[in-house]
Amino acid sequence: MALYKMGEILADAQARGYGVGFFNTINLEMIRACVEAAEELNSPVIIGTAEALLPIAPFDWLVPAMLEAARRAKVPVAVHLDHTYRFDTLMQALRSGFGSIMYDGTRESLEDNVCHSAEIARIAHAMGVGLECELGSVAGLTDEAGNEDKMVYTDPAGAASFLERTGADFLAVSIGTAHGVYKAKPCLDIPRLKQIRAVVDAPLVLHGGSGLSDDDFRNTIKGGIAKVNVFTDVILAGKRALAENPEAGYTDGVCLAREAMKRAVTEKLDLFGSAGKA
Ligand code: 13P
Repeated sequence: MALYKMGEILADAQARGYGVGFFNTINLEMIRACVEAAEELNSPVIIGTAEALLPIAPFDWLVPAMLEAARRAKVPVAVHLDHTYRFDTLMQALRSGFGSIMYDGTRESLEDNVCHSAEIARIAHAMGVGLECELGSVAGLTDEAGNEDKMVYTDPAGAASFLERTGADFLAVSIGTAHGVYKAKPCLDIPRLKQIRAVVDAPLVLHGGSGLSDDDFRNTIKGGIAKVNVFTDVILAGKRALAENPEAGYTDGVCLAREAMKRAVTEKLDLFGSAGKA
């Protein structure tokens, strides 16, 4: 199948009212888990990686594998770069062949976030690449000094002008989710999400998809989320499979972890309503 762009996949999700899963990957096993799960469900899917994962999986190894998997897939698969902070990494990503990228300016002032996002949008668009940006801040990620991002809700009143001034194509929103394992049950601000949805046309992205309830997914997708990012739950499924089979050798362990991650991805795609939509 031809390589899909994230924008094409999310346009269909928005038009038909379902969510699409985005999964970070670090190796062939995770790529296969995502693509095989999507094929079995006849679902679109988005795979990618993030700047923080670069030391584990450099672009020049991982991106060709993701692009090849996407081209071979029987369902629409897009290849996207998640949270990235550095200009150099973003330029490297454009050269590597990502169809879309995320610039995360949430650790900067709002003005700097707007200014840098706009600069990246101009370059990305000139190369036919879509840009995701974030307004507010989803908690849970840590910077290089180990400081954890705090939660700042997305202000619905500023969402339209943020998109207009930056030129971003996709908007990541902060409505009460967090990256990683939740320390307490998350309480999502669905009315805030609906207010944002009412003032912007761009596909909205929910980060921190691991650990949310089935109702959380149903409510956020109904409230206007088109893309749901998941990482931790897939990694934990792989880790559990290895822990439950301590006798397994490396090759068996790799296969067991892949099957467990595939089941985790299948469960999410099913919940997001994308099964049968490819
Ligand atoms: P989780 O690791 O909490 O699923 O978050 C994934 C994410 O939002 C990646 O951008």
